[in-house]
Amino acid sequence: MVLLDGYALARLKEEALRHEVQTLQQTLQLCPKLVVVLVGTDNASVLYVNMKAKACVRVGINCIVESLPEQTPQEELLNLLDTHNQDKSVHGILVQLPLPKHIDTRRVIEAIAPHKDVDGFHPLNVGRVYSNSLYTGFLPATAMGVMQLLKHYNIEVKRKDVAIVGASNIIGKPLASLMLNAGATISLCHILTKDISLYTKKADIVCVGVGQPKLLKADMVKEGAVVVDIGINKVEGKVVGDADFESLKDKVSFITPVPRGVGPMTIACLLQNTLHAAKGCA
Ligand code: GUN
Repeated sequence: MVLLDGYALARLKEEALRHEVQTLQQTLQLCPKLVVVLVGTDNASVLYVNMKAKACVRVGINCIVESLPEQTPQEELLNLLDTHNQDKSVHGILVQLPLPKHIDTRRVIEAIAPHKDVDGFHPLNVGRVYSNSLYTGFLPATAMGVMQLLKHYNIEVKRKDVAIVGASNIIGKPLASLMLNAGATISLCHILTKDISLYTKKADIVCVGVGQPKLLKADMVKEGAVVVDIGINKVEGKVVGDADFESLKDKVSFITPVPRGVGPMTIACLLQNTLHAAKGCA
């Protein structure tokens, strides 16, 4: 079994991005700027936003965190986004999800200018991924991170059977699109799927991201499968994924650890998207 070391690959990516940022500054006097909007104090969201801000500092991206109170009216959030949309010095805008219940997430995502939508959640960017027309636009960072990690380890996706467990807008759906675009045959399983193991058992690559510790067990995958664990859960103070690593490790050919698997790749890909935006490529 080989560990898919997302942490190591993310370090390599960040180093390359740091050089690119330096070059942009030296040649065009341009400093990439990302605005991260956090509404409320959800523990996981605060943690993710801090990790994103720290990563920006590492590569030289100027990151502004706008922390708003939980009760912020939707109109106020939309006005703030409009200000950053108009501001030419801002290249990327990200609103950390989930948002408080009184806010319409769709409205907020659609209020971000598509060319600054570094999460790739705006319908225009979603459509570009779906229709495989990515001359411009952004790929959602987690799905992009998974694809880059597989590519780095020379794991072919073309002609493979891929089972994705979890059909969220953030992870499962964009990942299914990217896998399909890369020539895989996809089974996209979700909360209403009658028997997930029917699909995971015959898959060459199993990706799981639902937020359920130890959901994927050894008897649910075939010998030599590749397992990509996109889950991040806290169990008894420890960070664990959605795959039961201990039972899977002797059966699979490749598996991502949690932590240090897909998570660091997501952050590195967000930085890549921000740089892409700053270069005016979106
Ligand atoms: N919440 C969980 N994952 C993400 C993400 O990738 N982007 C944003 N904005 N919020 C999230």
